[in-house]
Amino acid sequence: MFLSVEGLDGAGKSTHVEFIRDYLQSHGIEVVITREPGGTVIGEKIRELLLNSEHMHHNTELLLYFASRQEIIRQVIVPNLDAGRWVLADRFVDASIAYQGGGRQLGIAKVKQIYTMLEPMLITDMTFLFDAPLELAMERLNRGEKDRIEQEGLEFFARVQNTYYQLEHEQPQRIKRIITNQAMSITRETLQFYLDQLLAKYQARVASD
Ligand code: TMP
Repeated sequence: MFLSVEGLDGAGKSTHVEFIRDYLQSHGIEVVITREPGGTVIGEKIRELLLNSEHMHHNTELLLYFASRQEIIRQVIVPNLDAGRWVLADRFVDASIAYQGGGRQLGIAKVKQIYTMLEPMLITDMTFLFDAPLELAMERLNRGEKDRIEQEGLEFFARVQNTYYQLEHEQPQRIKRIITNQAMSITRETLQFYLDQLLAKYQARVASD
């Protein structure tokens, strides 16, 4: 199974990645976590460029995210999926649609066009969209040091969030929105509910092989 986690910077995604991994591992699943941009030698160099460069054309930014993604797909994601492990990607294509398509206003169609160049053109079995009110996410973001993308303003992040909502609306079977500004126990129960569904689907798949 191929899963990803998404959400605005400051929406609380990182807190839940370990929980997802531990829950799956406690059910006998081997899980590999990947991070984008980065996760390969080339990818880490691209991450550095993307997050710390002074000026960059929006198209360059878009292409670099996909270049990093192509490397991690071939070097990490596909080999692990082939070996029967589950992969949990900390961001994948939906991030480019939301941040570059929506935030940078390059348009969803343009990002999807580049998506078709990926080999293979993977799609997640499930994506968790961690979500908090924009003001709360911005407040959390303002507490730490900011990279180039995080220095963008409220309007940028509002567009990112709205594009994520649009994706959720278009693909409700694949994208599950998880609200993070509520009791942790409720967030975790919701996650468990979806993870149990995935585990059942996986076990049925393995049994029929
Ligand atoms: P991270 O904070 O989750 O490590 O992500 C790094 C930053 O890169 C974050 O601000 C979101 C941004 N990003 C994009 O703009 N487009 C993408 O395709 C990805 C994967 C991340």
